Amino acid sequence: MYPFTISSVIPRPIGFVASLSKEGVPNLSPYSYFNVMSHDPPYVCIGGCATSGRPSKMKDTQQNLLETKEFTINLISEWFVEAANHTCGNYDRGVNEIELSGLTPIPSVKVKAPRIEESAVQFECILRHTYDVKNKKGDITATILIGEVVLAHVLEAVTTKTGHDHIIVDIDKYAPVSRLGGDSYARVTELYDIPRPGKEWQARASAVKKA
Ligand SMILES: Cc1cc2nc3c(=O)[nH]c(=O)nc-3n(C[C@H](O)[C@H](O)[C@H](O)COP(=O)(O)O)c2cc1C
Repeated sequence: MYPFTISSVIPRPIGFVASLSKEGVPNLSPYSYFNVMSHDPPYVCIGGCATSGRPSKMKDTQQNLLETKEFTINLISEWFVEAANHTCGNYDRGVNEIELSGLTPIPSVKVKAPRIEESAVQFECILRHTYDVKNKKGDITATILIGEVVLAHVLEAVTTKTGHDHIIVDIDKYAPVSRLGGDSYARVTELYDIPRPGKEWQARASAVKKA
């Protein structure tokens, strides 16, 4: 199911997760089994899949989140996607991928895990729930990690305002990167709007049924 799943559920946003081990070693890795699930308050989820190369089977991100309960999500833009990609190697536990990638750690305000300076949108998060996914043999093959965003940061240069004076992110300045199947990334190049249907469409549907 792996190649089918990742090539069909596309495009996926990428959560670039920074965390600390309980000994304080920084870790940084991209996760495209990632999304935001609410906004009041914002909750994010990450799917950490088991790795066969380690006795614990857990990726460092998963282990760190379970141990320290704190992390940051740094959204990826085109200007640092290559450096970000360098962090996903199958490196030994204890390797500091922030250093390895050349990206810049900056302190967070509400959590101990660092943020990544190059990222235009950064979320400080606290782990609230976890759910172990088991296969038919009963092996834990993934853990879904659910966190609450306790503070959000945005680079002013990528923002704009709506007619109602709400701050939003301007997609052209933000240049977000998403994940497709295999090793492919995608940029968003073409947008179009479809207005939501008004309630009057409900009456039209029942009129069509009667006719
Ligand atoms: C763009 C991208 C998205 C990825 N998404 C996931 C994912 O959603 N879940 C996962 O378990 N691994 C994912 N990976 C692989 C992990 O990033 C990789 O296994 C990494 O080494 C894990 O690091 P860690 O052990 O430091 O957490 C992804 C890799 C890339 C390049």
